[in-house]
Parts: sequence; C-alpha cells; structure tokens
Amino acid sequence: MKTVATEMFGIETPVFAFSHCRDVVVATSKAGGMGVLGAAWMTPEHLEQELKWIDDHIDGKPYGVDMIFTSTASDVSGGKSPRKILPAEQVDYMNALMTKDGVPPLSDEDVEGWYEDYASNLSFTQEESDALFEVAMRHPIKLVVSALGVAPPAILDRAHAAGIKFGALVGSARQAEKQVEAGVDLIIAQGTEGGGHTGNVASMVLWPEIVDLVAPIPVLAAGGIGNGRQMAAAFALGAEGVWCGTIWLGTVESELNQDMRDVLYAAKSTDAIITYGYTGKPCRAIRSKYTEAWAASDAPKPLKVPLQSILSGEPFRRAERSHRKDWMTYSAGQVVGQVNEPKTVKQVMYDMLTEYAESMDRMTTIIESE
Ligand SMILES: Cc1cc2nc3c(=O)[nH]c(=O)nc-3n(C[C@H](O)[C@H](O)[C@H](O)COP(=O)(O)O)c2cc1C
Repeated sequence: MKTVATEMFGIETPVFAFSHCRDVVVATSKAGGMGVLGAAWMTPEHLEQELKWIDDHIDGKPYGVDMIFTSTASDVSGGKSPRKILPAEQVDYMNALMTKDGVPPLSDEDVEGWYEDYASNLSFTQEESDALFEVAMRHPIKLVVSALGVAPPAILDRAHAAGIKFGALVGSARQAEKQVEAGVDLIIAQGTEGGGHTGNVASMVLWPEIVDLVAPIPVLAAGGIGNGRQMAAAFALGAEGVWCGTIWLGTVESELNQDMRDVLYAAKSTDAIITYGYTGKPCRAIRSKYTEAWAASDAPKPLKVPLQSILSGEPFRRAERSHRKDWMTYSAGQVVGQVNEPKTVKQVMYDMLTEYAESMDRMTTIIESE
C-alpha cells in the first residue's frame, strides 16, 4: 500500500500498533507496519531497557515512542510514601467492597511494594517527560507521539532537527488545532470507541472532521479498528493510515497474563465502558466489579491524575493475586468484542489486509452493478 504515512516512514503497510509491550512493537514493524511503544508509565531506566531490547530485535525497521506532555498532573515523586498521600475515603471505600465480596487483602509489604514500584512512575511532570524524551532520543526512533498535551517547542525542534516526526493523539477539533499550531507532522484522531483515555465524538464523525481541518497534515484513524472492513472505512473517510490499540492486547505477543486474557476474550463490545475509576479521566476499559463500584451512586468522587491511578494499583493487584476475574479490568475499546482468541501480530495484520482488499472489491462491485 502507498499512502502519505507509508511514504513518511518508509513502511509497506499503513498499520500502526500502539502497545506497552515491546514484543508487539517489534512484531508489527517486522510485519511491515510500525510499532509505537507506550512509555508514559515507565521510568527513564525502564524505557532505556525496553528500547535497547527493541533495537536488538527489530532488524533496523522503523518504530516510535509515545509519551505524555502535560504539566497538569501533581508531582508524587517527592519521597513521601504514595499510600500516605491518598485520601482515606476512596481507599477505604474500595477495600471495604472487596473485603465484603471475599477478595483476600494484600499484605502490608505487598501494598507498599506495589506503591513504591508503581507510583514513582506516575508523576507526569515536565521533568519526567523531558527525561523520557532524552532516553528516546538516544535510540533510532522515527516518531514521537504525544498521548496527552502539547509538547514544548524545544522538544519539537529537537525531534525535527534529528529527522524524527512528531505526532499527537486528539479526540476533538479543538485539540487538533492546538497540535497543528505547535507544529506536529501527524495527527492521530481517536474516536470515542477507542481504548484508554478517550473523548466523546465517534470515529465515523471525528475522522473526516479532523482530516478536513488539518489538511494537508496526514491523519491516522484510531478508535474502533480491528479488522479490514473497519480499516477500509478509515481510508474511505480520508485517513492515511490506521492506529490500533485494543486488537493487539489479545495477541500471542501481548504481555497480558492468562486471567486477563480470559477477561479480554470473554468481553463483548458493550463491556468496553467509560470509567473514571482507572485514572481519574474518562477512560474506556472493560466493565468489572471495580468499574461498577466507581459508577455506583454512593461512590466517592474519583481522584485527580495521577492519584486515581495510584489508588487503583492496590485493588488491581488484589484481584490479580486472588485470580478474581470479576474484579479485573483493563483499558480496551469496543473492538474488544472482536478479540476472542490468541493470534500472532502477523496473523492479525494479514487478516486485516486480506479483508481490506475484499472490502475494496465489494465496493467496486457495488459501483459496477449500479
Ligand atoms: C491498554 C491500552 C492502553 C493505552 N494507553 C495509551 C497511552 O498510554 N498513550 C496513548 O497515546 N494511547 C493509549 N491508548 C490508546 C491507543 O493509543 C489507541 O489510540 C486506541 O487504542 C485506539 O483505539 P482501539 O482501542 O479501538 O484500537 C491505550 C489503549 C489501550 C487499549
């Protein structure tokens, strides 16, 4: 295939895989698309380790890194135990519900360990983004994507000076305008169907709106793409490529453990709901007793970024340790209903492209027969 996006990165197929899992990134790039590693939750040391592994396995194929550029989140890296900065009301609410439902509690040591490992990665301050960016710049990346927020001009200038393209995820026309003003090379328009943080405009409406607004800047369509018919729709609406997240979660290469895979494969499109319980921002994730608890009328208010993510760590680990799938959740979009069995990344891409070609044939036949 040949689109502005394939030309931009010298790839064969305009399929972009967002993933927190390095194996998915490598497998996508090797299969002719482009993998983009989600680095937002990593420390600089962890990112360095992951990128080194990618460099050693990707056979020189292009790949990218995705991170957060926002200074709105509060800093939680100041040495104080994150457990102590969380309000008791929210922590006690969730713990009491889980205890009542028979989910065994964690040991104090386990809780503290979890907070220490996890919470120090969640501050999303300018300094943290800068440190991640510096690590990424030491590797042969071809793309940096802002998951959230407008990157400072100095960051964009440095990427551009090194020949690296800059992209940004948007869920509305207003966000797209800000990113274009900042000088990005690529816009990823994510409709509300998508997994993770998401807006409220559906892909069918958002994609052509953003394509028209930002032209000639190329747009990748995201949110609700997991097969070839959905891919054909994205191109029909003006996209230059597709950017998928949920579809890779069920692949052989994905980092999800067996319990979470079972939850994922069983979930229907209607189970991918919006919850504030994950991060404090609207996030599409799989419905579970955890998400239902935050949606209950007597629930306390979810905390702000990044405190809600810190708070969710303990119940998530508690459910994981006791194999309580009814309490497990994971960010996923509505295409989760199409993810029912493990396939390799390569097979997913092959199926997608085959169905895309069939769809195009079908559309041509429709024109001829009229
Ligand atoms: C598990 C998961 C985690 C995500 N985390 C991020 C993230 O850290 N940064 C980001 O830019 N997008 C993130 N997203 C959104 C994806 O980049 C992508 O836009 C979205 O998954 C596309 O919609 P789809 O889920 O229907 O494929 C995440 C998506 C999922 C499913």
